[in-house]
Amino acid sequence: MSTKFLNQAYGISTMDSRDLYTAWSDSYDQEVHENGYVTPLRVAEALDRHVLDKNTTVLDYGCGTGLSGQALLNVGFQAVDGVDVTAAMVDLAREKGIYRNLDVFSPEDGPNIAEGTYSVIAAIGVIGAGAAPLSVFDTIMDLLPTGGYFAFSFNDHTLEDPAYEHKVLEYTQMKRAQLVFCEYGAHLPGKDMKSNVYVLVKK
Ligand SMILES: C[S@@+](CC[C@H](N)C(=O)[O-])C[C@H]1O[C@@H](n2cnc3c(N)ncnc32)[C@H](O)[C@@H]1O
Repeated sequence: MSTKFLNQAYGISTMDSRDLYTAWSDSYDQEVHENGYVTPLRVAEALDRHVLDKNTTVLDYGCGTGLSGQALLNVGFQAVDGVDVTAAMVDLAREKGIYRNLDVFSPEDGPNIAEGTYSVIAAIGVIGAGAAPLSVFDTIMDLLPTGGYFAFSFNDHTLEDPAYEHKVLEYTQMKRAQLVFCEYGAHLPGKDMKSNVYVLVKK
């Protein structure tokens, strides 16, 4: 039986996130599948409702092994690029042939992407407990052009810390973004976990 990581994931600091996902990479798909991981589909469906031109390239930020990219393709997006900080996860994504381009970057340097390159960015299961720090939220908003879409999820563990939802409020109250979708629903039913899915439009 393979080692299980889901329970460990929510106790990590951002410092050892890459170590966790390197160790988890081989069994990640199986473990989240066994627990009914449905947030990628929920985020993809939310984006599908708002981004009508399916030829728009989507950046899957924190693409992992490609489950999120596959969900975006499944709802009709034609081109998805992926970036992540964990090489072992990206190696598995590459084998699946889902992405047009894939890149690994160091969290200290940030992604090698010029502002405005992507008008649609998804961060599915990426920001918050068990993965990337809240600062990634600002990084992604800075990458988008005005009118660009940011689709993301916060799981229950992440929502326990009010800082994450405050960040969303900060953008909407300052009129830096408009919240066009927010829905609480299933995340990992096998762990009785839910998540909020959001779509923001940058102003
Ligand atoms: C729970 S996995 C989600 C992967 C994929 N989006 C999915 O839905 O299966 C979290 C991913 O976030 C990545 N990650 C962690 N810290 C990050 C950071 N600072 N920037 C980008 N990705 C990060 C991890 O390497 C991991 O692949």
